[in-house]
Amino acid sequence: MRQALRLQMLQEQLAEIKVTYPIGRIGGAVGNVLTVSGLNECARIGDRVLVARRSGDPLPAEVVQLSQASVTVMPDGPFEGVALGDRVTVDTQNKIAPHDSWLGRIVDPNGNPLDGKPLTRGLAPRALKNEPPAAASRRAFGPRLDTGHVVFDTMLPIVRGQRIGLFAGSGVGKSSLMGKLAQRISADVVVIAMIGERGREVRQFVDDVLGPEGLSRSVVVTATSDQSPLLRRRCAWTAMAVAEHFRDEGKSVLLLADSVTRFAEAHREVAVAAGEAPVLRGFPASISHLIMSLCERAGPGGPDQGDITAVFSVLVAGSDMDEPIADILRGVLDGHVVLDRAIAERGHFPAIDVLQSVSRSLPGAASDAENETITQVRKLMSVYAQNQVMISAGLYTQGADGDIDAALQAWPHLDEAMTLMHNKGCAHSFDQLKLALRRSGCIVPKGNSGR
Ligand SMILES: Nc1ncnc2c1ncn2[C@@H]1O[C@H](COP(=O)(O)OP(=O)(O)O)[C@@H](O)[C@H]1O
Ligand SMILES: [Mg+2]
Repeated sequence: MRQALRLQMLQEQLAEIKVTYPIGRIGGAVGNVLTVSGLNECARIGDRVLVARRSGDPLPAEVVQLSQASVTVMPDGPFEGVALGDRVTVDTQNKIAPHDSWLGRIVDPNGNPLDGKPLTRGLAPRALKNEPPAAASRRAFGPRLDTGHVVFDTMLPIVRGQRIGLFAGSGVGKSSLMGKLAQRISADVVVIAMIGERGREVRQFVDDVLGPEGLSRSVVVTATSDQSPLLRRRCAWTAMAVAEHFRDEGKSVLLLADSVTRFAEAHREVAVAAGEAPVLRGFPASISHLIMSLCERAGPGGPDQGDITAVFSVLVAGSDMDEPIADILRGVLDGHVVLDRAIAERGHFPAIDVLQSVSRSLPGAASDAENETITQVRKLMSVYAQNQVMISAGLYTQGADGDIDAALQAWPHLDEAMTLMHNKGCAHSFDQLKLALRRSGCIVPKGNSGR
């Protein structure tokens, strides 16, 4: 059976090899793109090409613009040494072939190993950009996942196939939280896209944050900030294609993309070089579709498939949640988690601002009693937050407002319960929250926590 499959794959690969192939010539170089003549009849947008430099190694590039007269390509790296008349050929192998043995490995967006060891290719090469499962045949959300984090296991549940955004400024703990999720969440496989990080951060993330145990069930796809925008953009697609490979095997996959902002910025560089106007606060109009089509590929699978649960991180400068990328993502995802610098500065990690965060898997992901507890805790926290300035300044007199009194009473108990659960693990998290409410004198919803 396996032999027959191999033979069929081999036949398909042979059939793709062309006996004759057109050759283009470099006709010019402007900014960070090259124009190529002679390929107008056959090149398509997104095709990979290879520039044979007369001096130096061949240079991979991607078709970003077409016209009657010439084709514009953007190289993957610096194009020193490219000369007029250099030969350009279309590379037909623009696919990656993930394999189960990629677990524990670090690869680049072209599917080449970055850890110095040989990498086995899978039997079935797949395109980088695939269609999501058909909407009508997609399953609903799966069961709630154990995340190893109190806040997610109580107030902001994450379920199988859910896609959430992680919004925060720089240095507030996005990458650290992603690392922790990669280590602890219940999933068969974790695929991590590190897009536009500094080179030093990749090593640090893999060694310190992820650790050997986290890495053993993960595939890390990375393109660092110094690499070409094409590679940085492709990093997200490659990681998604790897996640789809495991999803198609029926696995429960967690995809972590850090960050979508860098993906969008890479696309902006490519699109502007290809002549698109930056109309959306500096971003090209195509950015919405690009982000939406990426996110849509994650989520619950179709029949016989697993799921891709996904966390996309977004850098929000100065907590501007209305900037274009954050705004687009909030619209397409099934929840958003906001990290707050003020909370991080107090030394609380993960610095999740529960009141600003939303999980759209609720109310379905929790029992009636749990939903009641969540609503009650949210209300108490929100009343406390709204009046915090007044309370801290000593301007509030106890007894003036029943709601504020209740929030004041509940706050230390809730804070203590959260910290305790955080330090000691999440067993019976809901019961701990209920206990905190009871201690605060609140009427606690009856019923089983369902966990
Ligand atoms: N769970 C944590 N415990 C302690 N410190 C943390 C934690 N998460 C983040 N930090 C601190 O925040 C810094 C920035 O975190 P990082 O995840 O790199 O942020 P971001 O990815 O948002 O830029 C870390 O270097 C560390 O000092
Ligand atoms: Mg980071």
